[in-house]
Amino acid sequence: MTTYSLLNAGRIVAGPDSIESITGVAADFGASKVLIISDQGVSRAGLIDRPKALLEAAGVTVTVLDETPPEPEVGQVEVIFAAARQQQYQLVVGIGGGSAMDVAKIVAVLLNNDVSLRELLDKAPIARRGTPTLMVPTTAGTGSEVTPNSIVLVPEDELKVGIVSPMLMPDCVILDPKLSVGLPPAITASTGMDALTHAIECYMSKKGNPFSEMLALKAITLIARSIRRAFTTGGDLDARHDMLLGAMYGGMCIATSSTTAVHALAYPLGGKYRIAHGVSNAILLPFVMRFNSVGNEEKFRDVALAMGLDVATLSAGQAADAMIDSLFGLNRDLEIPADLKRWNITAADLETLVEGAAKVTRLLDNNPRPMSKTDIRAIYSQLL
Ligand SMILES: NC(=O)c1ccc[n+]([C@@H]2O[C@H](COP(=O)([O-])OP(=O)(O)OC[C@H]3O[C@@H](n4cnc5c(N)ncnc54)[C@H](O)[C@@H]3O)[C@@H](O)[C@H]2O)c1
Ligand SMILES: [Fe+2]
Repeated sequence: MTTYSLLNAGRIVAGPDSIESITGVAADFGASKVLIISDQGVSRAGLIDRPKALLEAAGVTVTVLDETPPEPEVGQVEVIFAAARQQQYQLVVGIGGGSAMDVAKIVAVLLNNDVSLRELLDKAPIARRGTPTLMVPTTAGTGSEVTPNSIVLVPEDELKVGIVSPMLMPDCVILDPKLSVGLPPAITASTGMDALTHAIECYMSKKGNPFSEMLALKAITLIARSIRRAFTTGGDLDARHDMLLGAMYGGMCIATSSTTAVHALAYPLGGKYRIAHGVSNAILLPFVMRFNSVGNEEKFRDVALAMGLDVATLSAGQAADAMIDSLFGLNRDLEIPADLKRWNITAADLETLVEGAAKVTRLLDNNPRPMSKTDIRAIYSQLL
């Protein structure tokens, strides 16, 4: 056993209507000027109205920048930062999914450091913590509210790049399931599968440890029992609560362990073909798991049990097969595409995908079964 550690957000407030705590959080940071970073979908869903009104009623001046695009590119983040630096804020609030939260985390760090986004993408260190941050997730997916990561798309390289630094860890989180009841079914499905992928990958990862084991198994149980209900009956608050908690535990898993080959193979699908992060992970998950199961059957049995599958009397190999079958079934029920055909990705694209994925050694190195370029090619080939 080697040393392991868990970095976490400073304070997490959770439960229905916990958004009401936003004034207390602002007061704790002595904030009289607050910047909210969000996106158009979240803004149109009316999710910024309540926190903004609460803050203003408490005498706080609020600026809203809600132009974050889904899965933002470098240039788009730079534009948001240019608007953010016009004034001095004591608190940066990210309200939305991973896209808005990742941008809020980066902007907060850029506001307090003499470094550019391009330099950060080239692995420049972040010297100081940024302006204090509060994250309010409205999807149950990335877990970005508790990770030290922000993901940016670099269009010229057709790749998504992760900036990873403890300085990106948010100071505070509000986890209010009422904010996710209006999340459309397709996004509920894809973001929820992203969260499930985090938990499963971090459990199997070579960086797995007692912290990630506990968090991952709980995340898997919560998500497996509630994702279908959240998909079919968006207003089910208990299901939304399970999903938000599960996604956050998945994010904590990322902070202490690491995702593996599913995320590595998903990166070029997002970077070049602009397939949504959750969708690419969901499509890849059962195929990569089939590859990973060889030699790791006992861990697959643990996950199958956490998913509520009746595998106690099966051999480890049979339990692993049952777990993989259930992932295919989950994708079918959630109407996730079974392959990449609708994006017109063909054999001609195969080498670009393989080269793109092989570059993501940060994650591939943690895969429980070594994955060569030949293996990567074989997995993508099954999806064409
Ligand atoms: N930082 C991390 O640790 C981490 C981990 C995994 C993924 N990511 C990144 O996060 C991004 C994806 O985030 P995401 O999957 O949460 O999607 P997203 O933030 O791009 O949001 C998807 C869509 O959902 C809409 N939306 C969000 N909440 C809503 C609500 N409650 N009601 C109605 N519409 C709503 C948004 O407007 C948007 O159009 C990617 O860039 C991915 O690479 C980051
Ligand atoms: Fe992810």
